[in-house]
Amino acid sequence: MTGREARSGESGGDRIRVGVLISGRGSNMEALARACRDPAFPATVAVVVSDVPGARGLEVARGLGLDASLVERRQYADRDGFERRIRQELQERHVELVCLAGFMRVLSGRFVEAYRERILNIHPSLLPAFPGLHAQRQALRHGVRYSGCTVHFVTAEVDAGPIVLQAVVPVEQDDTEETLAARILEQEHRLYPEAVRLYAEGRLRVEGRRVRILPAD
Ligand code: GRF
Repeated sequence: MTGREARSGESGGDRIRVGVLISGRGSNMEALARACRDPAFPATVAVVVSDVPGARGLEVARGLGLDASLVERRQYADRDGFERRIRQELQERHVELVCLAGFMRVLSGRFVEAYRERILNIHPSLLPAFPGLHAQRQALRHGVRYSGCTVHFVTAEVDAGPIVLQAVVPVEQDDTEETLAARILEQEHRLYPEAVRLYAEGRLRVEGRRVRILPAD
């Protein structure tokens, strides 16, 4: 049973509160925020947290009228303090689901455990192929015919948690890293809100490495 399922009785079908962690451009955060503007969408963005001061995503979030905070790593003596501050930001807004959207820091096992099966990430490859940085470059260098993107639950191991959804993007003959990344990004913007919807509807059940998608009511 997921955390969402366990609580959905109490929350009476309210929209779930999402915290989005970013470090840069924030286009996935924006896609989530735009999906959440639909009153029929079962989630709402409660806060956007960036660890990078000049992140474009912070401006985008504020432009969309979202609550946006900066939590800079260098202002804390250690990762523990930095993560405690992020957790405080999330707790203050009663965040139930954390979405990593281009957040460039690896969260500690402690953080991940505190939000067990309540953190999602999006990655621009068909995991488990090409985890880590520059996934599109890795895909091109490897010569794969198909790449894509993956939404997965976050575990302590980077880009390795149970897979929620994937979208396939064919690699074209003349693709550069930029053209491939742009076509993958289009799919990311569709896939991430879909995964959040499934989570919010209590339709994701983690069974070991596999995620079962339950039918809609
Ligand atoms: C996306 O490609 C995402 O898959 C990866 O980092 C990039 C973030 O882009 N994790 P944006 O900040 O959401 O525009």
